[in-house]
Amino acid sequence: MEKYIVNGMARLAGQVEIGGAKNAACPIIPAIVACSEPCIIENVPNVSDVSTIVEILQCLGATVERIDLHTLRIDPTGIQTAEVPTDLARHLRASYYFIGALLTRFGEAHVAMPGGCDLGPRPIDQHLKAFASLGCEWNVEYGVVNVKAGEKMTGAHIFFDVVSVGATINAMLAAVRAEGLTVLENVAKEPHIVDVANFLNSMGADIRGAGTDVIKIRGVEKLHGTTYSIVPDQIEAGTFMVAAAATRGDILLTNVIPKHLESISYRLVRAGVEITEYDDCLRVFCNRRLAATNIKTMPHPGFPTDLQPQAATMLCCADGTSIITEGIWDSRFRYVDELRRMGAKIQVDGKVAVIEGVDCLTGAAVRATDLRAGAALVIAGLMSQGETEIDDIYHIERGYEDIVGKLRSIGAQIEKRIYSDDYQSAAL
Ligand code: EPU
Repeated sequence: MEKYIVNGMARLAGQVEIGGAKNAACPIIPAIVACSEPCIIENVPNVSDVSTIVEILQCLGATVERIDLHTLRIDPTGIQTAEVPTDLARHLRASYYFIGALLTRFGEAHVAMPGGCDLGPRPIDQHLKAFASLGCEWNVEYGVVNVKAGEKMTGAHIFFDVVSVGATINAMLAAVRAEGLTVLENVAKEPHIVDVANFLNSMGADIRGAGTDVIKIRGVEKLHGTTYSIVPDQIEAGTFMVAAAATRGDILLTNVIPKHLESISYRLVRAGVEITEYDDCLRVFCNRRLAATNIKTMPHPGFPTDLQPQAATMLCCADGTSIITEGIWDSRFRYVDELRRMGAKIQVDGKVAVIEGVDCLTGAAVRATDLRAGAALVIAGLMSQGETEIDDIYHIERGYEDIVGKLRSIGAQIEKRIYSDDYQSAAL
């Protein structure tokens, strides 16, 4: 059993390097299945969701060599099967990217319904709609999604009913070698969508418009090997920005794209934080109590839902009442009960949380309910008087590389403790 122990009230100050984006790495690595030559991927975050994706690739028959901590050489030539092992697929959401990639390689894919954070219903109807439009048939049997192309996949005009990151990427993966032109409308525009399109183009794909509402894909005969560096993680950067603001800190984030952080910077400035942007770094400075502010999460370029729990936590000690509206997921306030244990005053009604700022939070034993909720509890611990003990930290390690080391390097008092099974039985 592993826990984080946080002793709060230390001001964060110093420099932190942001890693590659988990939500870009998770589709880019499966996309290599669609290619017939080895690829080198740089700036790969060393997080457990990426390890699971790599394990799936290896099970399919790919050879993966770690050149250094953040660089992988992946040779997909040995892949012989279109069936993803069910136990691994169910571990994470991003396993559904193997459907698009395997369709492109074999014309069929068999992947268990994906897992991932529990944020309310997470249907994949828009993914399936895209595959069907490209000429595939699908069914779900015994928990496995089976998708099969007929003779070939043919380009199509697809209008998504909801803006979906996953469906946009999966449709790009499946259409990249489909015959003719595919037009995707009402697509997601997150930085990782653009990154996946750039990666596929570097393998010889012909994708235009990523980052806008319409993406056009002209099918190509084959994809070739490439060397590609993953975009910096917008959400890891945003988490550190919020942590700095919450502790009245002064930090310089390096390896970031400030443009990707604008919606976050805007909200922090409204709350009284000073942000200075440089080419590939950003300084966050705060020396006062934050002002209350309202936030609504929206698809990019709006405020990201994946920073909602962290931002809500920061506002627990703001001066005044803040309103947080969750615009993407039905159930992303499960962490609120944990914050209440720490003295936060929050009322939740459906997708709206009303936060009445208190003077200070106090440490408590809490449990990470999902990845970003876990990051929020780390921030809560940093803001609190006394000690906070965070359980179920495996959620956090799915998406944050060495969060303890990075926070310690800028002055946080946080450590990871590993307890023996004896401790666990005694606790039970
Ligand atoms: N939706 C549908 N049908 C679909 C797909 C999505 O109705 O076929 C709905 C969802 O229920 C949701 C909305 O559309 O209400 C957006 O879902 P989306 O498909 O964009 O989410 P996702 O691809 O499953 C990714 C990230 C999430 C992030 C969301 C939104 C990955 C692996 N996951 O999920 O990240 O919250 O986009 O930006 O990329 C996280 O990193 O902590 C995380 C949960």
